Amino acid sequence: METIFSGIQPSGTITLGNYIGALKQFVELQNEYNCYFCIVDQHAITVPQDRIELRKNIRSLAALYLAVGLDPKKATLFIQSEVPAHAQAGWMMQCIAYIGELERMTQFKDKSTGKEAVTASLLTYPPLMAADILLYNADLVPVGEDQKQHMELTRDLAERFNKKYGDVLTIPGVRIPEVGARIMSLQEPTKKMSKSDPNKKAFITPLDDPKQIEKKIKSAVTDSEGIVKFDKVNKPGISNLLTIYSILDKKTIPEIEEMYEGKGYGDFKGDLADVVVNVLKPIQEKYYNLLDSSELDQILDEGAARANEVASKTLKKMENAMGLGRKRR
Ligand code: TYM
Repeated sequence: METIFSGIQPSGTITLGNYIGALKQFVELQNEYNCYFCIVDQHAITVPQDRIELRKNIRSLAALYLAVGLDPKKATLFIQSEVPAHAQAGWMMQCIAYIGELERMTQFKDKSTGKEAVTASLLTYPPLMAADILLYNADLVPVGEDQKQHMELTRDLAERFNKKYGDVLTIPGVRIPEVGARIMSLQEPTKKMSKSDPNKKAFITPLDDPKQIEKKIKSAVTDSEGIVKFDKVNKPGISNLLTIYSILDKKTIPEIEEMYEGKGYGDFKGDLADVVVNVLKPIQEKYYNLLDSSELDQILDEGAARANEVASKTLKKMENAMGLGRKRR
């Protein structure tokens, strides 16, 4: 069985974009692959976090992973900071990464441009992400479109390590969904839907209640044409809503276009709100049952133990290859 690794940051409540671009894929893949899914809290602290909120978000994300259908018997779910090999291997990756290539990362440019104080970790974030993946000898990494550049760097770093120190690391492939890899903001549909958007109307979270969902979808920015048709360039708002509808209701975009022929955006948006609510309702029920349960702690404890076992083996191989410490098996 091939291995999959992926991670999500516990920085605020995740969005429908994270659900469609990442979590939903994870659930579909857990039957076919040996899966490791991580709550990457060390990535979250590259920007300031409130410690109480961070702890809350870590637990919330863990409960959500399970509520959407992740089965802890099939997949390993764990928290990054509970597996020390990530920070250790992350440092080794930093030692082979060049500042120039890190400065070229679009996410770094977006997050640092115009800022007075930029933390070093914002720059060295991709080598830590590479370490996350490489520690598990992952064959495949399912992510949304925005992580493509980080994945290319991960592959470059792994190849560089192997060339310098011997064949130790598996070069991971990337899996980006054909539809839904980039869900857009509901308010500015040419921008990615993001949990850090200061405009709360721009994103839906899997924990929003039906009223909030309806309100957000009804106020989603569209165009004045009034025709439900997919056209990313000229109708980015409607195209984004069609994408969400198509994925969550398992219908093709032409099928949905046909359903709304001659109807206006009001009908379409009302039905889409129902679709989203129906998908999220069972997820929310499971989520609230899990959130304060000891079962959740047990799953995370077992996950960390399993992850530690695999990660520390790769770490030893990397240290031996680089000549760190004393030779160990
Ligand atoms: P993060 O936490 O920003 O996002 C988690 C996952 O959700 C995807 N995603 C989206 N997909 C579709 N539409 C959107 N609007 C949208 N927004 C986010 C992301 O592509 C991602 O797959 N660096 C990573 C976390 C990470 C990681 C890793 C991922 C750390 N180590 C190792 C994979 C493997 C990040 O910040 O994702």
